[in-house]
Amino acid sequence: MKSVYVTRSLPGPALGELAKRCKVTLHRKALPPSRKELLKNVKGKDAILCMLSDRIDKEIMDAAGPQLKIISSYSTGFEHIDVEEATKRGIYVTYTADILAEATADLTLALILACARNVVQGDRMVRQGRWKAGWMPDLLLGQQVHGATLGIIGLGRIGSAVARRAKGFGMDVLYYGRRQKEQGLATYAELDDLLARSDFVSIHASMNGASRHLIDREKLRKMKPTAFLINTARGAIVNERDLIVALKKGQIAGAGLDVFEKEPLPKSSPLVRMKNVVLLPHIGSASRQTRHRMAEVAVNCVLDALSGKRPDPYFLVNPQVP
Ligand code: GLV
Repeated sequence: MKSVYVTRSLPGPALGELAKRCKVTLHRKALPPSRKELLKNVKGKDAILCMLSDRIDKEIMDAAGPQLKIISSYSTGFEHIDVEEATKRGIYVTYTADILAEATADLTLALILACARNVVQGDRMVRQGRWKAGWMPDLLLGQQVHGATLGIIGLGRIGSAVARRAKGFGMDVLYYGRRQKEQGLATYAELDDLLARSDFVSIHASMNGASRHLIDREKLRKMKPTAFLINTARGAIVNERDLIVALKKGQIAGAGLDVFEKEPLPKSSPLVRMKNVVLLPHIGSASRQTRHRMAEVAVNCVLDALSGKRPDPYFLVNPQVP
């Protein structure tokens, strides 16, 4: 029987199916495996089913051994895997592609609305007994979403799903990034122009060398003082230190963040004490339906590879592997 190391328990029935057909070593703890645990538990495995929090590099591949056939990531991002090294060794790398696009777009809209209309502040006010005067003409006045301009950085599957939703809200949608796929969905703008014109700037680029700290002090200065920055992509696309300064100085109105440069966000981060931010624990894809489907895809890729088939090319990161 082939053996698989799974680095977290996954929601849904897929892991049960995997366990019927393979010998599964499951990391059951809530926290991710330490480097030491990872190195120990991959030993002799034919497959690794990992999360975005597990760094899978040459050392891990060496520790696993030459029989390792596939690294299947339960994520759409795969910057935590040394794909070049895996390809050299003939190891398949798979990911869950755009399965999470709609769920992540939903959460992006949730952050836009929460920031615009003081949803979290209002909830705190009611719970903490600070709502004293009943209906008030000027209580928690926010930014109108209808008619506002949304600037999308990266119009891939998630960015496009956000654009479609934004259209439904009557927003004007700009985008910066690669060529547009759906005509009429959004209007192209250069990055600086998009930053200057948008009431909400939402990041949907993938993480790579070019996008690291794409939004820094200089770019934040281009935004309107009334604008909000939304990030459901990767924390490191924004220079978090620069963002904190911009928020403190009132250079921008606020931010809605699901991702951070360091996760979990340390309690000591100044963001935790700021009123003009909405902070979420990286739950962009966390709908039951999406996470179950992601598990199914990650497991199917493993089962295919271990039964001598090529994983579905839609989910294969390195099609060069024969
Ligand atoms: C989530 O951030 C993912 O990459 O799946």
